Amino acid sequence: MEPVKVGLLGLGTVGGGTVNVLQRNAEEISRRAGRGIIVSHASARDVNKPRICQTEGIQLTESPINVVTDPEVSIVVELIGGDTLARELVLKAIANGKHVVTANKALIAKHGNEIFSAAQKKGVMVAFEAAVAGGIPIIKAIREGLAGNNIEWLAGIINGTGNFILTEMRDKQRDFDSVLAEAQRLGYAEADPTFDVEGIDAAHKLTILASIAFGIPLQFEKTYTEGISKITREDVDYASELGFTIKHLGVSRRAENGIELRVHPTLISKRRLIANVDGVMNAVLVKGDAVGPTLYYGAGAGAEPTASAVVGDIVDVVRVLTSDPENRVPHLAFQPESLSDTPILPIEEVETAYYLRIAASDQTGVLANITAILADSGISIDSMLQKEHSSEEKATIIIITHTTIEKNMNTALEKIHALDVIDGDVVRIRLEHLDAD
Ligand code: HSE
Repeated sequence: MEPVKVGLLGLGTVGGGTVNVLQRNAEEISRRAGRGIIVSHASARDVNKPRICQTEGIQLTESPINVVTDPEVSIVVELIGGDTLARELVLKAIANGKHVVTANKALIAKHGNEIFSAAQKKGVMVAFEAAVAGGIPIIKAIREGLAGNNIEWLAGIINGTGNFILTEMRDKQRDFDSVLAEAQRLGYAEADPTFDVEGIDAAHKLTILASIAFGIPLQFEKTYTEGISKITREDVDYASELGFTIKHLGVSRRAENGIELRVHPTLISKRRLIANVDGVMNAVLVKGDAVGPTLYYGAGAGAEPTASAVVGDIVDVVRVLTSDPENRVPHLAFQPESLSDTPILPIEEVETAYYLRIAASDQTGVLANITAILADSGISIDSMLQKEHSSEEKATIIIITHTTIEKNMNTALEKIHALDVIDGDVVRIRLEHLDAD
C-alpha cells in the first residue's frame, strides 16, 4: 500500500521534532499504523533557514496554503501556532477533505467548536493530543481510557515554563527573568512568554481538558486566569514552613451548580505526588468516580516530547482513514449532540481553602479582630503562624483556612483591609487538598 502523505505547516521546534521522530521510527510506526507515513510537503517562513531535521525529499514552500490545497497530502499537521492564520488554514484543509493534526491549544480552546463542527460535516478528523501537556497522552486517557467514569475533578500542572520558573526560584534562588530567558532558549516558552507566566497557555489547555472531561463546549472566555508573576520568595518560604508547595494549577471540578474552570497559583501539601512535579515536567490528576484518582506525568514541552503526541495522532488518523466517520471517537469525547449546557461557575462561587499573609501592627487584639472577621464570614481557620519583627513592632500573620466560597473570603478581606492596623494588601493564595474524596 502507498504510504500516507503528511503535509506540515511549520518546521520549527515541534515540526523539526516531528520529522525526526517519523524518520527515525519509520519502521515501528508503519508496523503500528498498517502502512508507511511520510512527510511529503512542509511550509516554513524561510525555507533556507538551518533546521534540526533532514528535509531531503520533502517539498518545501513558504506558502502554507500550497500544503493545505495539495491533492497529494492526506493529513495536514498544523504547527504554526496562533489562532488567526492557523484557523484559516485548518478550516481550508478541512474544506479540502484533509484530516488535521494540531498542537495548537489556543486554536482549539478558542475556535475548536467551529473547527469540530466543520470537520464533522466533512467527515474528517481533527486530532489535538499535543495541544495539552506536550508528550503526556492525557486527551486519550480521559477521552478513551476513562470513558466509563463520571469525572469529578481534574487538576494539572500544564505549563512547563511556569513550573520551571517556580522550581528554579524555589530551589536555586534564581531570579524570574533569567529562568524565563532559559526556558525561551530551550524552546519551552510561548512566542509571547506572558502566555506562560500569566496563565493564558494553561487556561487554553484547561479549557480543552474540561470539555473532554465533562462533555461541555469549549469556553475559554469563561476560564478564570491568574498568573505567577506576583508570587514572592517570602510566600514560597512560608508555604514551605507550613508543609506546602506553591504550584501553578489548572483546576476543573464538577460542583453542585456548575463547573469550576480556573488557573491560579495554588498551595498543595508536599505529601501529594503532584507537588513534587518539578522543572519543565507536567502532570495531570484526574478523579473518576469508578477509578478514583489517577495521575499522568511527563514532559510538557520540547521538540520530541511534543512530536511524540503529534506522531501518535498521525498514527491514530491513519488507522481510521477508511472507517465510517460516524463511528470514530468524538472530538470532544462525547457525541456532539450530547454536549451539555452546564454553566461555568464565576470565580466568586468557587469553593477552595486559602493561604493568607497579613502584615499588621504587633498590638493587642489584632489577631482577635482578624479571626473574628473570618468567623463572621463563616470561615474556619485550619492553622496559623505569626512572625514578629520586634524592631518595627510589626508582625506577619499567616493563616491557612478551611474550604469556603470565594465570595465569603472577598467579604472578609474587605473588612480586614479596612482595619487601620493592617499594612498593605493581604496576600491570598488558594489552596487545594486534591484528596480522593
Ligand atoms: N509554553 C508551553 C509550556 C509549551 O511551557 O508548557 C507547551 O505547550
